[in-house]
Amino acid sequence: MNIPKSFDQVDQWKSVMFLYDSALKEINTKIEILNNEFIHIYNYNPIEHIKSRLKTPDSIVKKLKRYGYEVTINNMVEQLNDIAGIRIICSFTSDIYQIAEMITRQSDVTVLFIKDYIKFPKPNGYKSYHLVLTIPIYLADGPVDTKVEVQIRTIAMDFWASLEHKIYYKFEGNAPAYLQQELKACADVVNVLDAKMFSLNQAILELSEAQQRKALEGEETEEEI
Ligand code: GTP
Ligand code: MG
Repeated sequence: MNIPKSFDQVDQWKSVMFLYDSALKEINTKIEILNNEFIHIYNYNPIEHIKSRLKTPDSIVKKLKRYGYEVTINNMVEQLNDIAGIRIICSFTSDIYQIAEMITRQSDVTVLFIKDYIKFPKPNGYKSYHLVLTIPIYLADGPVDTKVEVQIRTIAMDFWASLEHKIYYKFEGNAPAYLQQELKACADVVNVLDAKMFSLNQAILELSEAQQRKALEGEETEEEI
């Protein structure tokens, strides 16, 4: 990110946080538009809800120190990917890939990297699709590419991740082995639940399509008579 020169004299921190806040707004709007388009055209909303947050100064400093970097605005901008973070929660795993595809093919979005913890879950059972991307924020002096971390997961994956997060923090990363095993077992249940909910939904869709076809055929036969 090129921090605009005119900002050097002013409060750099505020300027940088303003950029991340603006990036969150931009991505939020993009996602809302995609969701509304889906509702409008297909009568289906792939997104259950969206959460976004700016990293607090406290956690920015903690993370830089944890990574062994000096606490500077430059390091924060260059080394951290999740100062602006957005989490998209959807119903089905298939929605995740569709949403990711719709976001990444937008011409002003640049994908820096992808971590697919759905195809490759973490050993603890964590599943989620992570994208780190940049979008240009148009300031008076010109565009500034700004990083946003996007996490996309199902409701069930989110449920699991929030409990795991709570346990992780409670025990500062050293949860008793039996809790870790239980969590892993829960992750397996999440997989089964997601798969079952998906196939149930597919069955419902097929049924209603068949009903619609039948109704249409009925109309056609009436017309023929
Ligand atoms: P940090 O984990 O943020 O230091 O960065 P990283 O480079 O390891 O990135 P990664 O994509 O692995 O994780 C980014 C974010 O995903 C984290 O800040 C969490 O919000 C979430 N996350 C990653 N792994 C886990 C996990 O095991 N459990 C939970 N609950 N969340 C996770
Ligand atoms: Mg991590």
